Amino acid sequence: MTVADLPKIELHLHHEGAAPPEFIRQLAHEKRIDLSGIFKSDGSYDFRDFAHFLSVYEAACEVLKSPEDFRRLTLAILEESAANGVVYSETFLSPDFCGGGDVHAWRDYLNAIQDAADEAERKFDITLRGVVTCVRHFGPEQAKQSAYCAAETAGDWITGFGMGGNEGVGTQGDYKWAFECAREAGLRLTTHAGEFGGAESVRDAVRDLGVERVGHGVRAIEDDDLIRELVDREVTLEVCPGSNVVLGLFPDFAAHPIARLRDQGVNVTVSTDDPPFFHTTMRREYEMLHQAFCWDAEDFAALNDTALNAAFCDDDTRERVKKRLERT
Ligand code: ADE
Ligand code: ZN
Repeated sequence: MTVADLPKIELHLHHEGAAPPEFIRQLAHEKRIDLSGIFKSDGSYDFRDFAHFLSVYEAACEVLKSPEDFRRLTLAILEESAANGVVYSETFLSPDFCGGGDVHAWRDYLNAIQDAADEAERKFDITLRGVVTCVRHFGPEQAKQSAYCAAETAGDWITGFGMGGNEGVGTQGDYKWAFECAREAGLRLTTHAGEFGGAESVRDAVRDLGVERVGHGVRAIEDDDLIRELVDREVTLEVCPGSNVVLGLFPDFAAHPIARLRDQGVNVTVSTDDPPFFHTTMRREYEMLHQAFCWDAEDFAALNDTALNAAFCDDDTRERVKKRLERT
């Protein structure tokens, strides 16, 4: 048994970003939509940099039109995650791509996604929960729509609210209304920060939005005071090392700050972000971390503990997943 075979918890996965290129090509073919411009000749997604990645991502979303498309996508994602040893996963769902922010339409998409998640739980022994995510570069007004959708469907399955998208647009604080709306509905909070924004963006996320988790957050390594603040506030980082390397934040895994952040007491977890875009899987993330930092089964068990503690599910689900981890 290698570290890649260990059971895993993933807290940071974008639903559309987890769509295999073959899946998107098949839908494009069925709907007669020409998406040839977003693929390389080897069939993988083709992008130059972060801004281009976001536009290729949104182009791929053009074929994800109906609740049925999302049902099929959810099954495909969970089969792949389970094959990688993932036993519990949280996925980022954007009402912008599921009905355009309309609450009634959003409910239809969500029902289809939850149906598929139930089926996958029976077939593949993997549990999924949803985090509604607004898209930063769509602006604060559109984010409010996502927050309404989140608040209307908050419960056992939609357990969190977050924000992805281009961190260069506006400030975290511009989205305060949406985050407060979600918090009042009982949702737990996370936001992307400290990926392309610097340490200041992470500080704004925890102070202005009051999030308990941060997507990426790795640029915190540039600021010792911020690291102490993250430790004091018990903030958990959803770190996606493979994504950061492909998008050029760090030259390779060995240069990635995840181990230094962990050594300074920050709660770190590991996820894939948008696995087919970044040519990664949870198995590969574990293998690369083992190679770069000699992390062993004990280190990965501690990582799972941190992730399970920070998961946005209820305590019954947490216990169930804990038992599954012990069994696997
Ligand atoms: N949406 C999908 N992947 C993302 C990333 N890595 N950063 C910000 N927004 C995203
Ligand atoms: Zn992300």
